[in-house]
Amino acid sequence: MSPGPSEPPSIGGATLRDRLRDALPRVPLKAAWRALIRHNRARRPESPRFLKQAQVDQALAAVPPADFDADALKAALAACDGAAVDRLLSWLPRVATEPVIVRVVGWPASFGPALQARLLRRPLGAMSPGEAAALKREFDGFDLGGSRLAVEVDLPPDRVLPGVPRSLRAEPMRRDRGGPWLPHVDERGRHFVTPEAIAARQAGYVAALGDSVLDGFCGLGGNAVMMARAGLRVVAVEAVPERLALATRNARSFGVSIDFRSGDLRDQLDVDVDVLFLDPPWDRDGGEATWDRLLGFVPPDRPKLVLKLPRSFDLGTLPEREWTMHWEFGAGEDDAAVVRMITAVGR
Ligand SMILES: C[S@@+](CC[C@H](N)C(=O)[O-])C[C@H]1O[C@@H](n2cnc3c(N)ncnc32)[C@H](O)[C@@H]1O
Repeated sequence: MSPGPSEPPSIGGATLRDRLRDALPRVPLKAAWRALIRHNRARRPESPRFLKQAQVDQALAAVPPADFDADALKAALAACDGAAVDRLLSWLPRVATEPVIVRVVGWPASFGPALQARLLRRPLGAMSPGEAAALKREFDGFDLGGSRLAVEVDLPPDRVLPGVPRSLRAEPMRRDRGGPWLPHVDERGRHFVTPEAIAARQAGYVAALGDSVLDGFCGLGGNAVMMARAGLRVVAVEAVPERLALATRNARSFGVSIDFRSGDLRDQLDVDVDVLFLDPPWDRDGGEATWDRLLGFVPPDRPKLVLKLPRSFDLGTLPEREWTMHWEFGAGEDDAAVVRMITAVGR
């Protein structure tokens, strides 16, 4: 396998670290590298190599060519001779310093340019190598609707991307986002209540399809309450009786009336309603999110379906029909560029 653009070349065999350990003369290597970093920083920008310990670590993990002179490198390090170190390590790729061209490929068909720009939070094209590294770390291999994104960076030969600058590291999304918007919750259910703004949008999609809806996996009632508030007649099914009791209290506290039913959705699929709204448990045994695994029991020809699906759901597994995809971004300050879920509307 050929090395990736940000990995040291490796052809098998002893690494530079091993070769230096075995070489002469005896030199306290840590101190020598540290001195070299200081020296290189002083003569920046001519030498972009070895300005940080991370670059040294990357070089030490590379496998030198067979004729590499480890003794000479050790002597150059001991003498803090930066030019000699650079010459001896000329087989190592250098960190790119000039702007590079970046492309992101593998987008799902329904994820157009405006959504792409929102998710990436920056325009593509030419950017600094640090920004390219940040983009690669965040989005290379990112799963979106059954597609996998790839971040392609045009790098000159023998150049690698730097580490991601601290200032460009993605902020993790806050887990405690001010608590659930429903007053009555249980420990498990609180994590899968649909966020208020998204539940309101989803109620709008359902209301555009009909006057009545079956919420087949109602949980604590986040979606059911919003759909009732949008004026729909709502029948809501939940398999866990204690959670259904909480959903009933939630409906009461919002002053809406919902026909709650305890039991298994599969026994209620013949309820006479215009729309079937489904928010199945996504994390069931942690497998792939596909139609068969999450919703396989739903008759594929059932008219008017609104599905709340995880971002990684493989949209290609949905049964044949006219689907509209809504990519649901968060409404908060820290998740406005995060795809929280997909709503698939089928008619
Ligand atoms: C993702 S949660 C629904 C969250 C809900 N939309 C909300 O905003 O509060 C899925 C719920 O489906 C319930 N459930 C799982 N299998 C079911 C089944 N076969 N029939 C009915 N409910 C089921 C689970 O107990 C869980 O409460």
